Amino acid sequence: MKFFIDTANLDEIRSAAELGVLDGVTTNPSLIAKIVGDPLNFTYNDFKAHIRRICEIVDGPVSAEVTCLKAEEMIAEGEDLASIHENVVVKCPLTIDGLKAIRHFSACGIKTNATLVFSPNQALLAAKAGADYVSPFVGRLDDISTDGMELVEQIVTMYDNYGYPTEVIVASVRHPQHVVSAAMMGADIATIPYGVIRQLANHPLTDAGLKKFMEDAAVMKK
Ligand code: E4P
Repeated sequence: MKFFIDTANLDEIRSAAELGVLDGVTTNPSLIAKIVGDPLNFTYNDFKAHIRRICEIVDGPVSAEVTCLKAEEMIAEGEDLASIHENVVVKCPLTIDGLKAIRHFSACGIKTNATLVFSPNQALLAAKAGADYVSPFVGRLDDISTDGMELVEQIVTMYDNYGYPTEVIVASVRHPQHVVSAAMMGADIATIPYGVIRQLANHPLTDAGLKKFMEDAAVMKK
């Protein structure tokens, strides 16, 4: 199973990379907006430079999302994003226009991540259009009282049934149990916020056991 970090924050990306568990990065316009200091002075070139910096930190797929709605515009923007670095994956929304763009990128060897996926049929379309990755948003489904992980289970089964090579990225992860469920279902990847990556290491019995070991070790003379 691969772990991506779901952030555009360079400090968080560096810290997660230092743990040795990081296989890639996903960003989206909202995550980019969070790292922008002064929106009046943040240009498209600054965005591209930021994606380049992420690619220099992590040697793995880095999803950068298109910011337009029409297929022709997505294609132009996506080709430009793909030129930043060989590890850039163009993230396209799962819309009719997004599917057209994914098909185009697939034909010319540009990697894609179909995003904003909320149904099994959207995931099927992504695979058929040739997306390299599909991102079901589990947390946002949970937010509206729908079982997000059930969608992941359906997608994994469907892709296995037909041997689609599209990798499933469990996205919109909110807590460690999402990661456990993703692994149990055989999802290829979980893209995880930095805080949740840190939570994965936590256990109160580890803390309690370590405290006792430290106390007992203190009786030894150095
Ligand atoms: C990742 O690809 C998605 O953009 C991200 O996981 C969405 O997460 P959110 O629902 O917490 O915004």
